[in-house]
Amino acid sequence: MPEFPISKDHPWLAPIAGFSDLPFRLLCREFGCKVAVTEMVSAKGLLHNPKENLRYIKTIEQDSPLVVQLFGDDPQIMADAVKLLKDKNYKYFDLNSGCPVKKVTKTGAGAALLKDLKKLNNILESMAKVAGAENVGIKTRLGWDKQCVTYIHVGNIVQKLGLGWITLHPRFAKQGFSGKADWYATYELKQMIKVPIIASGDLFTAEDGIRCIRETHADSLMFARGALKNPAIFMEYLNLLKGKSSLYDKNKLKIDIIKLHIELIKRYSEVKNPIFKIRGILAKYIRGFKGSKKLRERAVKVNSFEEVIQIIKLLEEEVCK
Ligand SMILES: Cc1cc2nc3c(=O)[nH]c(=O)nc-3n(C[C@H](O)[C@H](O)[C@H](O)COP(=O)(O)O)c2cc1C
Repeated sequence: MPEFPISKDHPWLAPIAGFSDLPFRLLCREFGCKVAVTEMVSAKGLLHNPKENLRYIKTIEQDSPLVVQLFGDDPQIMADAVKLLKDKNYKYFDLNSGCPVKKVTKTGAGAALLKDLKKLNNILESMAKVAGAENVGIKTRLGWDKQCVTYIHVGNIVQKLGLGWITLHPRFAKQGFSGKADWYATYELKQMIKVPIIASGDLFTAEDGIRCIRETHADSLMFARGALKNPAIFMEYLNLLKGKSSLYDKNKLKIDIIKLHIELIKRYSEVKNPIFKIRGILAKYIRGFKGSKKLRERAVKVNSFEEVIQIIKLLEEEVCK
């Protein structure tokens, strides 16, 4: 077990490429996210161009515990990347063995590792040697496709190596995001191994989270698309867990979330032009408000923080009238 608790009242933020950056992680932590995972970063990229790739996993003290998710297909390169990060005070590492995107799988990384479990084993072993087994985990899928079902094998590897956790997104790589997440598979895995299991897949609401924990008996869970849509999902889930309902003005909370997210981006974003990032984020949040088409059209064209503040003010007036 890692030093931090893995329990149902310690929900995780999932790795979400392009989204789970420092500002978004801090935003989710504000609402009760207890463990956050960075978006996946290339081990090779980190070694060849550390400055450029370290930007993706920039962190600060409050952003803790933080798990860095790595992808790659070479045990030595993975170990070297973990060493580089460990020297920079990163402590927890996760192996991506679930990404089905061609750009990643054609290099032998991501879900392609499910077609070569010996290699997957060697990579985990080499990462564990550098980081300590309890500080390493894996995020995986059911398998490559129905002809190549691997989650139980991967669970056994993780258990044999004494790793810290295993996250299961119970779909096949070939499925992408289609069909339904097979939570029963997560339940089965939980029955078979002792390593803490983090459930993932189709956790769109706080209620989904409660149901998932009840049905799978997983030790904890991670929100991905549910958190993107509603970063307060952690608070709602934790309230439900305690048997409390979340009584608040949903529109007001949404405006507070927008304000805080923009503030965090302004303060911590590592992208070259944060205003471009804000355009997308603002438009995404505004989409949830009725009759906001005009404001959304403005949001995707903002050029300054002053304009952003103006839009939020208009949104507040619209919502509160
Ligand atoms: C835009 C996007 C990016 C993602 N990036 C990653 C990633 O970098 N690493 C990873 O292991 N999973 C990644 N995932 C998968 C999620 O972590 C999660 O397992 C999946 O979305 C299922 O959970 P959900 O149905 O509750 O969203 C990503 C998902 C989405 C939607």
